[in-house]
Amino acid sequence: MSIYLFKSILSVVIILLTIISMYTMLEMLGRSQVKVDVRKYKKIHKAAGFLYIGIFMIASYFCLYYIYISRAELTPRSNLHSILSLSILVLFGMKLLITRVYKQFHNYVNIYGLLIALITFGMVGSSAGYYLIVSRLGTDISFDKIAQYKHWASTQKRGGAPEESAFAAGPESISRGEVIFKSKCSFCHDTKSTETIVGPGLKGILKNRELPFSRKPATPDNLRNQLVKPFGRMPSFDYLTKEEMDDVIAFLSTL
Ligand code: HEC
Repeated sequence: MSIYLFKSILSVVIILLTIISMYTMLEMLGRSQVKVDVRKYKKIHKAAGFLYIGIFMIASYFCLYYIYISRAELTPRSNLHSILSLSILVLFGMKLLITRVYKQFHNYVNIYGLLIALITFGMVGSSAGYYLIVSRLGTDISFDKIAQYKHWASTQKRGGAPEESAFAAGPESISRGEVIFKSKCSFCHDTKSTETIVGPGLKGILKNRELPFSRKPATPDNLRNQLVKPFGRMPSFDYLTKEEMDDVIAFLSTL
């Protein structure tokens, strides 16, 4: 199973646990006359809370690992997701402290619970919700391929060709570019067609007027931009030297 789908399933469980906690809390504190067995409901509420935090920690491990292997700045969506998750951690800690130690604040404990529930929906929506929509409920695997690739890339050495490989768009540059392409790009891009593997096939990429995905003009400069600050989900190759990028572009111009 893919890591994204796995995380999405964890998120669905988190949502269910949130609903259980909310329901038990409302039944215990919300009615003018309590109708339920409070001790039993308290136990369920507590168990759901601790299970929630356990799953939360597992999911956080995957998130942190993913940040580590991609070594990239977070996207606005991931930033929002991190802020919401961190808020939950703080609120949960506070709630625990209030119920255990600072009991004078006990009146506020339900507000903390409500805030945690509210933010949980934002947290899950901004990650699993997004993933399930764009991957057509987990059936489009290109996201996972990209995660797989990032994992693989993190195990490879950075940098590459020695310094003396000065750029000249001659046959040498083209064949150096081909080597780089085979090791870094062919996992996701076909060169013999325009069929999509993970990213679009790159046949004739510089002979067309527009780039296939962003629809920007098909120029070497825009290709270079794609490597440094990629449009869409492609990982960045900003660690390639200028010469290596020139070589790759020289190779792409032959397709
Ligand atoms: C992990 C997969 C992956 C790897 C590796 C990868 N790409 Fe991409 N690439 C993509 C995806 C995906 C897109 C389309 C963007 C999207 O779907 O979000 C893309 C788009 C492109 C585009 C079209 C950009 C546009 O503006 O339309 C070019 C050109 C490109 N990649 C070149 C490269 C080159 C050169 C390399 C190697 C240095 C490379 N890619 C490595 C996944 C990858």
